[in-house]
Amino acid sequence: MTRVALAFSGGLDTTICVPLLEEEYGYDEVIGVTVDVGQPASEFEEAEETADALDLDHYVVDAKDEFADLCFDSVRANATYQGYPLGTALARPVIAEAILEVAEENDCTGIAHGCTGKGNDQLRFEAVWRDSDLEVIAPVRELGLTREWEQEYAAEKELPVEGGSGGDWSVDTNLWSRSVEGDELEDPSYVPSTEIYDWTDEPSGETEEIEITFEQGYPVAIDGEEYDAVSLIEYLNELAGSYGVGRTDSMEDRMLGLKVRENYEHPAATTLLNAHEALEGLVLTQEEREFKQLIDQKWSKKGYEGLVDAPLVGALEGFIAETQQRVTGTVTIRFEGGKARPVGRDSEYAAYSAEHASFDTEAVGKIAQEDATGVAKYHGFQRRLANSVTTDESEDEPEVELATDGGEE
Ligand code: ARG
Repeated sequence: MTRVALAFSGGLDTTICVPLLEEEYGYDEVIGVTVDVGQPASEFEEAEETADALDLDHYVVDAKDEFADLCFDSVRANATYQGYPLGTALARPVIAEAILEVAEENDCTGIAHGCTGKGNDQLRFEAVWRDSDLEVIAPVRELGLTREWEQEYAAEKELPVEGGSGGDWSVDTNLWSRSVEGDELEDPSYVPSTEIYDWTDEPSGETEEIEITFEQGYPVAIDGEEYDAVSLIEYLNELAGSYGVGRTDSMEDRMLGLKVRENYEHPAATTLLNAHEALEGLVLTQEEREFKQLIDQKWSKKGYEGLVDAPLVGALEGFIAETQQRVTGTVTIRFEGGKARPVGRDSEYAAYSAEHASFDTEAVGKIAQEDATGVAKYHGFQRRLANSVTTDESEDEPEVELATDGGEE
């Protein structure tokens, strides 16, 4: 008796995989696994109903906490890819791990997904699964299936999917983002109607301010009230979404090299990322901020690739953890015109001295305004020298003329 675990959503791709795994790959039994990373209830209902109709053994695993923790790690790394927060990308390794666990518990010898051969998700799933001894199966990719073929096959087999409509976008939702692609959106010049949005309202003239508290770079409270990671994200998606915060429309460069037009909604992620960066701006030194951008970029890249357990990420997180020790404090965010704008920040670790920076104070401690004079004289010195050298070919010798600042000394 051979058994295969299938990443199952109840959508067209994964539904047709159920009979295909038996017919084409010879498995005796298929079990479906749906992992909860914060999809809406309707998706679980759909999965449940379809599984019932298929007589499929169906497991639902709750991985919301784990996923939310990873999202918060991504906040500490200011993680984005080509301008949008990583949602789908971060969810995939969490989902893949959960499915692998169910597969192993149920003595499966195979593990399968319904991803096509064009996207990133096949890579992210398989990176996790190929660590095991299970046979990794990707029916849609391996059999070269098209959506049209799938729809016909589903109709012929009387599979319980509404795959016939053909006019729907492909949506991927989790706590951190809602991604919409396909259909008319495949034309980059097509201006999407507001119908594609579900989490965000059209920005109105209304505004609201909230205060977000961070502890060592992790968001912990809003307006003084503490939340666990999942509830904090859910709360902010609702609130910031009502102000139209967190929409992205981008041409995404996928790992295989294809460009794909993607639309995203990510109100909580945008709010938290903006707030976190604002707090770093207060407490980190200029050189830490500059260097951390490199670290953050690398973290983001590994996050996008679905490789958050790579040794490099552990090393990057060592640096991040060191810097985040001081990223404790509060940030005031104003929701306004579809934006979540930091308008105030406060921390006991501020690398900031109002006294020193102010226009209104005279000498503070050992430093006075005039002390900057020497720095000002030297600033741009090499450039002054270099620019003063004439390289006119009509002259034999380059003429070096040292321009001083008027010879005040
Ligand atoms: N392209 C994005 C990524 O790789 C998300 C794709 C989500 N899938 C979807 N059907 N909308 O992270």
